Amino acid sequence: MAKRPDYFCNWPKPQGQQVPCIQKQSELRMFLYTEEFPETSDLNWLIASTENITVGEYQLSPGSHFSPADVHAGDEIYYVMKGEVTMFQPESGQVMVVGEGEGILMPKGCPHIGYNFTEDKSHMLYAIAPKIWGEDGPPSDYTGAVRLYKFEERGGSVREEASPVFSENAAPREGMRIDLGHFPASGPEGREKKLFYKLTEQNGIKMISGTKTPALMSVWASNDVMQFGTIKILTGGPAPQQTEYDTHAGDAIFYVMDGPATFFLPDRTQTFNVEPGDFMFIPQGERYKIINYYGHTAKVLFFVAPEF
Ligand SMILES: [Fe+2]
Repeated sequence: MAKRPDYFCNWPKPQGQQVPCIQKQSELRMFLYTEEFPETSDLNWLIASTENITVGEYQLSPGSHFSPADVHAGDEIYYVMKGEVTMFQPESGQVMVVGEGEGILMPKGCPHIGYNFTEDKSHMLYAIAPKIWGEDGPPSDYTGAVRLYKFEERGGSVREEASPVFSENAAPREGMRIDLGHFPASGPEGREKKLFYKLTEQNGIKMISGTKTPALMSVWASNDVMQFGTIKILTGGPAPQQTEYDTHAGDAIFYVMDGPATFFLPDRTQTFNVEPGDFMFIPQGERYKIINYYGHTAKVLFFVAPEF
């Protein structure tokens, strides 16, 4: 294992000095995963990294995969921005193909290898909460079972007790706020089963934010360390459509999918106009609202960690 690079937990500002800011797509900090093994690395962009959450982007070239299997000190979620990625859980053999506009939850301790079995590059937004790795940094090796095709015939362990216990993912119950905090599985349940969960906007928990200018939220995943979803702010009417004032017990990172979207922070009297493709970082405890001053719907993806 290598040491965890210092920029983790300290980006864009050192721990304790974080302030609201725009993170422009064109100005993100690049890094290799992993810097220890450039020959099997993939290209990464860091958006924000605090004590609560690390958010970044990475890409996989056509035909490539990363190695060794990644295992984090927190739950990880991907949102596929472009292309398609195939995720493999070597311990269980579970394989999940995640298409553009879809997401996947990989609980803490769940080893994973990403493959790109397409002719185009895959580009993912990822969030890991609370910590991407421990102080020792990324794993430099993976020594567990690798349940590829005919793994057992090729000398792999067939010890049944080593096989994970499978159960169906919880059937989505649309619109049930009661599922907040344990959707699609509770944190402890997900980490025990080490299964992947497919996340989509359609299957997310729907909530309506606000009364005067209601905005539709879809919470794709919600557990004890991270909240992930999308919010749609329409246009039209006698005044600009907007969310209510909100504040979180956790750090929030927003990705403007369609926009621009305007973030107003009344306690700082600060306004940030965030262009499509750019990010807004709001540390915990800051009051804000999102306003749509434009002629088309604004759509914003969010990660909040640990709590709303
Ligand atoms: Fe990962």
